[in-house]
Amino acid sequence: MAEKEISQAVISRLPRYFRYLGDLKDRGVERISSQELSELMQVTASQIRQDFNNFGEFGQQGYGYNVDYLYTEIGKLLGLDQKHHLVLIGAGNLGQAIANYVNFERRGFYISGIFDIDRELIGKKVRDIPVYPMEELESFCKERDIDIGVLSIPKTAAEAVADRLVKCGVKAIWNFAHVDLNVPEDVLVENVHLSDSLMKLSYNINRYEALKKQ
Ligand code: NAI
Repeated sequence: MAEKEISQAVISRLPRYFRYLGDLKDRGVERISSQELSELMQVTASQIRQDFNNFGEFGQQGYGYNVDYLYTEIGKLLGLDQKHHLVLIGAGNLGQAIANYVNFERRGFYISGIFDIDRELIGKKVRDIPVYPMEELESFCKERDIDIGVLSIPKTAAEAVADRLVKCGVKAIWNFAHVDLNVPEDVLVENVHLSDSLMKLSYNINRYEALKKQ
């Protein structure tokens, strides 16, 4: 596969390709043309061809793409052929919802432990995953190969906990707290804000309504 810098815009589209190809694979589809994929995904065939061209020879002209191969290669690009071990900080509403979602494991993301300061929650389990006291975070991470920390705690506590996770050696933080974290360059942060998505939706509703009136 070609080793070249791939734009973040292309990378942000890969999970969606991966999902569609996974569905096609489950349905036993072996080959798909960029045109067929385009109709299915509602993106232009040229966008698909351009995106896939970034990764070398994914398909043959006129013969379509091999679904299984494409699925595997995109999975590799997304690092989904490796296992990731996560600690989740904050066992409240959001933390429990994340821990209860089983599909992350199918993609290789395993929540090894949940941490909280609330004595009522410590010792309980969320879908078989124990909730530990924050005092045990460092020793827990040391014993296991934890590479991702998930923050589902109030923003006021996020920075201090992120610092602790960095010292624990995590490579990345999946941040749900509404604050921009200051971490060293070699620690990656992916911010997830559901409300941003809602605001985008709200904008698009207004835009669509305005267009209809024209
Ligand atoms: P919650 O109050 O139900 O849960 C927060 C949990 O964090 C509690 O169990 C609390 O004991 C724990 N906690 C507080 N300080 C801590 C610390 N220093 N170390 C470890 N645990 C600590 O709140 P909820 O609804 O689960 O939301 C959690 C956070 O996620 C909030 O900051 C909220 O604003 C944010 N949020 C973000 C969303 C997003 O899309 N990014 C969506 C929903 C919530």
